[in-house]
This record gives sequence, C-alpha cells and structure tokens, in this order.
Amino acid sequence: MNSTTNISISDIQIGDRFRKDLGDIDGLAQSITEDGLLQPIGVTPDNRLVFGYRRLLAFRDVLKRDEIPAVVIDIDNLARGEYVENTFRKDLTASEMVAITDALRSFTRGGDRCSEQYRNNVVAVTKKRACEIVGWKLDKYDDAKKVVQLAIPELVQLMDEEKVSLHAAARLADEPEDIQKEAVKRVEAATTAAERRGILRTVNRIKRARQRAEQRRAECEAPDTSESIRLYHCSFQKLTEVAGLKPASVHCVLTDIPFGNEFLSQINDLAQFVGEVLAEGGVFVCYVGQHKLNEKIRAFDQHLNYQWMGTSRWVGRCNQMHSLNVVSNSIPFVVYTKGERAPSKWSKWIDTLECDSREKEFHEWQRPLAEMETLLRSFTMPGDLVVDPCGGGFTTAAACQNLGRKCISCDSDKANVVVGRQRLRSEAKEEVVEVEGEKIGPASVAHLSHEMV
Ligand SMILES: C[S@@+](CC[C@H](N)C(=O)[O-])C[C@H]1O[C@@H](n2cnc3c(N)ncnc32)[C@H](O)[C@@H]1O
Repeated sequence: MNSTTNISISDIQIGDRFRKDLGDIDGLAQSITEDGLLQPIGVTPDNRLVFGYRRLLAFRDVLKRDEIPAVVIDIDNLARGEYVENTFRKDLTASEMVAITDALRSFTRGGDRCSEQYRNNVVAVTKKRACEIVGWKLDKYDDAKKVVQLAIPELVQLMDEEKVSLHAAARLADEPEDIQKEAVKRVEAATTAAERRGILRTVNRIKRARQRAEQRRAECEAPDTSESIRLYHCSFQKLTEVAGLKPASVHCVLTDIPFGNEFLSQINDLAQFVGEVLAEGGVFVCYVGQHKLNEKIRAFDQHLNYQWMGTSRWVGRCNQMHSLNVVSNSIPFVVYTKGERAPSKWSKWIDTLECDSREKEFHEWQRPLAEMETLLRSFTMPGDLVVDPCGGGFTTAAACQNLGRKCISCDSDKANVVVGRQRLRSEAKEEVVEVEGEKIGPASVAHLSHEMV
C-alpha cells in the first residue's frame, strides 16, 4: 500500500502542520535540484498530507512543479493494525514516523472518520497505542518528536539519515542553536561511526570550554585600576581604619590564619572583623587547621552563619603532631556567611580540594595559587571585593589579580608585605588565553601601585 507515486500538488490538502520552523526552503529546493528528492512525501488515500510539508513547499513554491512523488499511507488500515511493523516502517525516516504517529492520533481524535465501521474498530488512540500501531517504542517517539519540534533542520536531517541516534539528537535538541550547529558540523566532519557516537561528549567538552572562556572574558573585563589590589602593612585589627574599609562592603573574606596557639587569642577579633566588613550574604572562607578547631568555630559562630566545611589534601610531605601521634595530609577550611547566603552567588564547588604542588616561594605557610583561584571562582564573581586579613605570601591577592577580583590584604609582618608587593608585580603580566583555538585576552591585569610599607 505504501508505494511511491507522482501526485498533483494542487490536489493535496495540507491542513494544520506540526512543524512551525520551516528552515531554509530555498536551500532544500537547491539540494532537490542537485540530488533529486531523496524521500517522497506522505499522503492519505484521499490526498491529505501526512508528512513532507517542506518538500512540498520546495516543489510547489520554489521549483514551480505541478507534481511530487508521494507515498500513500492508508491511515484506516494502519489504525486497524493491517500493516506489519517492518513492512511499514522500513523506508520511513524518524521524522516521518513522528508525522505518521501524530497524524494517526489527531486523525482519530479529530473524528474525521466517523463511519460506523471505523468507530467500531478504533474508539480512541492514545500516544502509546499510536506508537504500537506504527511499530515503535514510546520513548523513541518522544525523542524523535522532541527533535522535530526543537532541533534545527540540519539536525533533524542527521537523525533521519541515522548519523545521530534518536537519543543523542533529542539531547542536542535541548541545546541552543549555536551548539546544535556546532554538533552538526562535527558529525558531518566525523570520519568514523565512533566519532559520531561520541557527539554528546564532544558537545559537553565544547560547552565546558565555552563556559571557561566566558568566565575568563568576564575576568578580563573586570575593573582594572591601580586600586584593584591593595596590600597594607598592619594588623587586621587596624585594617578597617588603614584601608578605609567601609562596613558591610566586602563580598568575600578568604584567608588562611596561623593554626597554632599563638593566634587563638585573636580569633574573636577576626570573627568580629569579618562580621563587620562582610556585606549581607557575603562569604567567609578560612583555613583553620585541626588544632583547637572547636574554639575557632565557637568564635566564628558568635558572628557568622556556619554553612559547610571543606578539606584541602595533598600527597607527599605531611605534618606531624607529636603530642597526638598523628600524621596529617589535610587541612580543613570552614565556610560561613554573614546572615543568609546571597542566592546565585556561588558556583558549584567541590569541598575536597586536591593539591599536588608545594609552593613555598613567598611564605613558609603559602597556599597553592591554583587552590585559592578555585575558591575564588567558587564563591565570588569578577569585580567582587575580597579581603585577606592574614596575607602571608599574599596568595589570595595574587589569585584576585589573576581573576579580576578586587583585593585588600594585610600582614602584621613588614617583610611579608615587601615580598608580597614584589610577587604581585612580577606576576602581573600580559596573558593571552587560548580556548579551542580561540584567542581570548590579553587578560587585564591590575597595574599595581601598592601602599608603601
Ligand atoms: C598562614 S599565613 C598566610 C599564608 C598565605 N595564605 C599564603 O598563601 O602565603 C598567616 C599570616 O598571618 C599573619 N598574621 C598573624 N596575625 C596577624 C594579624 N593580627 N594581622 C595581620 N596578619 C597577621 C602572619 O604574619 C602570617 O604571615
């Protein structure tokens, strides 16, 4: 019953179409001229169009033809199950299968076959039943339908040509148009079936690279003034006054305190300082060490709102605490907010940081730069003001400089501030970042004019 025949276009009743975006009809006409019509359109025995609307438009409106090759789909017979799955399905593409399934459902629901005989045979056709009749699984229909509705025409075509699986095409249909176009390009350029099958992984890689590039761009565009990074030689107890810090003006306090007994008497001061300078919803991230952690937490709890605890761990040389006979390869850090956490401010973050580099060039307790950058990216945005009240080797400030965050930092030890100033000068260099062949930058780097020590 479904053999191809030439029928007169003017006899075809088009009715309501499911497809809204018709894409490039001129391009389709051009390809029909060059390669012929690869797939006929589908019509019912009484000439109602079932699928192939774009092809019909190309034939009628662009190529000015009177006739078009069509396959006749006998919906009555279909509904009564007279077509065996394989004989019916073999020549049809996924989008044509969608069109037929939909036609079958609307056909019975619309009641335009009201004969006694018909009603006796088909009372109502659900989506599940329509899929059974045309011989495919519901989830395959759902995937293909989504592609037909949401995907760009080139992706629909790849699905129809079975160059992309229904599942992959449906996932790609959720993506913005530019990503779909990129995926189509990659599939067309693929030389092996394995490459084509890996298209979702490829697309995820492209998306991640774009996100990184986007973030990098934002970092590059962040304010670049001599005021961006400011280092002071003073105790943090004096920093508000010395740096002219306004209350509730800071987005993030990111710091790494001395872990030993010598700092315990200052914990309360620190908690109070952070409570004063942080803006409502701002975040306090502090490496605390395991020693007397309970006392530190008690002090922070007085002024701030506990959120979580993270760990930085490393392999290799470890810390030993002889009194407890413990060998330690990790340092805990706490995450607090002032009041409630500002919604949408944090990126997804991992609470266990792995570190494989030992960086002690600027301070004996120096943290790895990449780790501080990870924390900054997790909790702050380019342009945010970050304070590190215990600068040490000023790794927080260096990370802020790299990522376009403003930073105010201090240390009570003058030598540390001198070294910190040198470090920031030497690390402030023009930088071009390349992501998937795309050059981004040069990165804006703060021109340093630090406070004289
Ligand atoms: C653990 S180190 C910071 C190391 C730093 N995170 C880095 O990556 O180089 C802590 C620093 O806090 C400083 N410090 C201690 N008490 C201070 C205070 N009251 N005000 C400012 N700095 C202080 C110490 O001099 C020390 O350099």
